[in-house]
Amino acid sequence: MEATRRGTFLSFQPPAITEEEIDAVSETLRSGWLTTGPRTAELEARMRDYLEAKHVLAVSSCTAALHLSLVALGVGPGDEVITTSITWPATANVIVHCGATPVFADVRDDTLNIDPERVRELITEKTKAIVPVDLYGQPADLDELAAFGLPIVEDAAHAAESRYRGRKVGAIADLTCFSLYATKNIAAGEGGCTTSRFPDTRRTSATCCPRSRSYSSTRSRSTRRSGRVTLRSTARGSLTSTASKRLPATRATCTPTTSTSCASRSPTATRCSAR
Ligand SMILES: Cc1ncc(COP(=O)(O)O)c(C=O)c1O
Repeated sequence: MEATRRGTFLSFQPPAITEEEIDAVSETLRSGWLTTGPRTAELEARMRDYLEAKHVLAVSSCTAALHLSLVALGVGPGDEVITTSITWPATANVIVHCGATPVFADVRDDTLNIDPERVRELITEKTKAIVPVDLYGQPADLDELAAFGLPIVEDAAHAAESRYRGRKVGAIADLTCFSLYATKNIAAGEGGCTTSRFPDTRRTSATCCPRSRSYSSTRSRSTRRSGRVTLRSTARGSLTSTASKRLPATRATCTPTTSTSCASRSPTATRCSAR
């Protein structure tokens, strides 16, 4: 049988770009703000409102968002982070970038999301966080995972429009990371953001963010209490989380080699293609 070949590439999830987006980009280029300017602040504010989140930090990719979130939680060498066994490599790579060890939990047969029962079996004293993925926009079992009392960094790369038990993804986990890559449901070419329930974690992320000039070490005033730590706001000195978390003593240190761009592209996100 003679093979037929298309004259053009079959487009995978073409972005919805109208004159409005083109005008906005032109306006930004004319404004002189090529990096973090008023448009970034607007994106953060609008994402915060849309996601019903407490705090939003815009970064260069979801990979950067995930990495910064773990850094902000103080994840480092000797620590373990439990994550799903079906995801894009970036989810596990960022754990390695922190010097920690990814521990892969099997997934549920029905949703292909991380199985809380498998997570339970893998938790040890070394476990410092859980990184579930909302595969194809379908939220992981966030309540069941939160019940373990460990910090949750939710990989919501595919899930900017998802709800979990009536709540918006982005307003539930301790930190939630979104991708704004070209094939995602909110597409900016490259980009990402992280939402946070904790002002001090957002602040640490902002300090470590590659778009800021300094890659300094930061420390939050986490208080160790018999192995359990309560997050406190360094900015206001107030208690920001009523939930005690098994956080490590913070040693958030950034290096310029990490958290910059993503080397990851998702072949997935099919159920996210709402546009
Ligand atoms: C589940 C998941 N996590 C993280 C990422 C990384 O996103 P980004 O390309 O914005 O770094 C992707 C990318 O597609 C992904 O599918």
